[in-house]
Amino acid sequence: MQILNAEYPQKRMRRNRARSFLRRMLAENQLVAQDLIYPVFVLSGTNRCEPVLTMPGIERLSIDNLVSQAHTWQDLGIAAVALFPVIDTGKKSLNGDEAWNEQGLIPQAVRALKKALPELGVITDVALDPYTVHGQDGIVGRSGDVLNDETILALQKQAICLAAAGSDLVAPSDMMDGRIGCIRKVLDDADFQHTGILAYSAKYASAFYGPFRDAVGSAKNLGAANKRTYQMDPANADEALHEVALDLNEAADIVMVKPGMPYLDVLWRVKQTFKAPTFVYQVSGEYVMLRSAIDQGYMSQEILLESLLAFKRAGADAILTYFAVEAARMLKQLD
Ligand code: PBG
Repeated sequence: MQILNAEYPQKRMRRNRARSFLRRMLAENQLVAQDLIYPVFVLSGTNRCEPVLTMPGIERLSIDNLVSQAHTWQDLGIAAVALFPVIDTGKKSLNGDEAWNEQGLIPQAVRALKKALPELGVITDVALDPYTVHGQDGIVGRSGDVLNDETILALQKQAICLAAAGSDLVAPSDMMDGRIGCIRKVLDDADFQHTGILAYSAKYASAFYGPFRDAVGSAKNLGAANKRTYQMDPANADEALHEVALDLNEAADIVMVKPGMPYLDVLWRVKQTFKAPTFVYQVSGEYVMLRSAIDQGYMSQEILLESLLAFKRAGADAILTYFAVEAARMLKQLD
């Protein structure tokens, strides 16, 4: 066959792709179940299990069901869970005081999980939105805006309460200025030096959170309001580096970028700039987009693992994803 001219390169990239052992050996990144953190919505009461209508395949679970299912998640190799509460309407208030009730839903869930499965990582969210009647992450002042420093005082109480219940990591997702250092200080003062802080450092004011707000029941509280005075503008990326630098300076143990796939550039830059432990959150809206495309038969289930591998390639050390259980099952089959 004389179809090639003399200029044709000697180097053929396809040689390394031609054999499966080489493809496996030369893979630059690998997705394993240990990379995955499963976010779960916790309900009060017992033996309850409610589907989240805007997130097909995801259920809110009461603590007993959470603990029994968590055995399966751990057996699949999932490293940790991130807990989010569905707070009964009667327990919501202007200042979200239920957030630091030691007998509250999340502290109870943490204690139950830690007792049954001490090796499974438990991450708890520090923010007031599930607990407030207005659905904002902090305390709202007379002007209608979320008050930074007053909110931090509340978050400190919440963080101590979550640490005392046994959380491995507390995860401030509120985006108040200076909260990481303030939370670190009170944790240390209360002898919780070993409780880590996973900082939602670059968290954007994103419409991709819609289904989550429905899942925790804060959507109706928030109404037409938004979180743009504290969450980041999707137009900005340099600003994310400033946010991360501040949180690391304030002793964040791990930083996070959120949402995930629409912000892969931010994730990449954060990892390249700081080389610090970096997580990413594949949020509810991303889950729903991929889920519905798979369920409708528009795309194959493989997109799920591909989306997660993209986070590894961009520099994530771990991924919060509602696909954690399904992905871990798929990875097991590939083995
Ligand atoms: C609230 C919080 C949100 C998410 C995690 N923590 C929503 C928000 O900021 O309004 C979103 C997660 C998701 O969409 O999956 N502190």
